[in-house]
Amino acid sequence: MKITVIGAGAVGATTADNLVRRNIAEEIILLDIKEGVAEGKAQDMMQTAALLGFDSKVKGVTNDYLQTAGSAVAVITSGIPRKPGMTREELIGTNAGIVKTVVQNLLEYSPDIIILVVSNPMDTMTYLALKSSGIAKNRIIGMGGALDSARFKFQLASQLNASANDLNAIVVGGHGDTTMIPLIKHATWNSIPVTHFLSEEEQEAIVHKTMVGGATLTALIGTSAWYAPGAAAAAMVESIVRNQNRVFTASVYLEGEFDQEDINIGVPVVINRHGWDRIVPLELSEREKQAFAKSADAVRNMNQVLRDNNII
Ligand code: NAI
Ligand code: 2OP
Repeated sequence: MKITVIGAGAVGATTADNLVRRNIAEEIILLDIKEGVAEGKAQDMMQTAALLGFDSKVKGVTNDYLQTAGSAVAVITSGIPRKPGMTREELIGTNAGIVKTVVQNLLEYSPDIIILVVSNPMDTMTYLALKSSGIAKNRIIGMGGALDSARFKFQLASQLNASANDLNAIVVGGHGDTTMIPLIKHATWNSIPVTHFLSEEEQEAIVHKTMVGGATLTALIGTSAWYAPGAAAAAMVESIVRNQNRVFTASVYLEGEFDQEDINIGVPVVINRHGWDRIVPLELSEREKQAFAKSADAVRNMNQVLRDNNII
């Protein structure tokens, strides 16, 4: 079993590190366009094998897709962050060019591959990966909601003084500060609704802190986060590789579900060896339905940039 991670930057390297520690694949290929970076990081990771006790191998390569041949899963983290003065259209244009080429290269050497897209704006990049490749919708999965849900559990655990492992809580909608929807009314602490323990003000504060979770870290660190994003991507890959049937919020292609069509957006799905296998139905309140429709409008506006620029 081979897994490929594209982009050996902060998120890509952390994903590879999480994967190699999980010992779930014989080989992990870490690929970057910058000469030597993936090779160096892979060697550094391999030097932890004797300390951490894993047998998986991670190999770094510079833009050599032949080495990725026969991969079962790939995680795409390549792309640039938005720089000062850069318009949203420019960011989308640059990352879209990267993601589109990466998807083509991956499919050339691994025609049956399942692709997990991390690069931002993630919902739009996932949609692009699907539209430009034409492969089955279940083989293209966007990672964002898994991270946002983990951040939601962190906020709930902090407020409740509880273990994050005892919480069941999900975030749906787009992966963005204003588009994500932390479903606090559905969240439970060991099957008891968290709303039993939290005032309306506390609930609102938790929802808000979850929504600005990524931006908060970017302001503190000076760039976007990587530990939780890397862990989230690796957990989803493990569910594919080990056919675990775990439920994650993931950006998947909707064809009428949640009253949406022709869009990739975050909903809960079962993840297994087929990629995303099926959508888990949710009973949303009127308010939550409206928030979901608004979120979808924002993601659709972002997707329109792809069409305006003839990228799809
Ligand atoms: P980074 O700048 O540390 O790493 C990006 C890497 O991609 C660099 O090493 C660069 O050389 C490489 N790269 C660029 N073009 C490439 C190409 N054509 N082929 C192969 N490699 C290429 O950035 P970081 O922090 O790792 O973030 C990566 C992406 O993930 C960004 O778009 C970021 O916004 C996004 N992100 C998404 C999250 C999510 O939940 N969906 C969470 C965190 C980050
Ligand atoms: C995050 O949520 C920026 O998508 C990135 O940390």
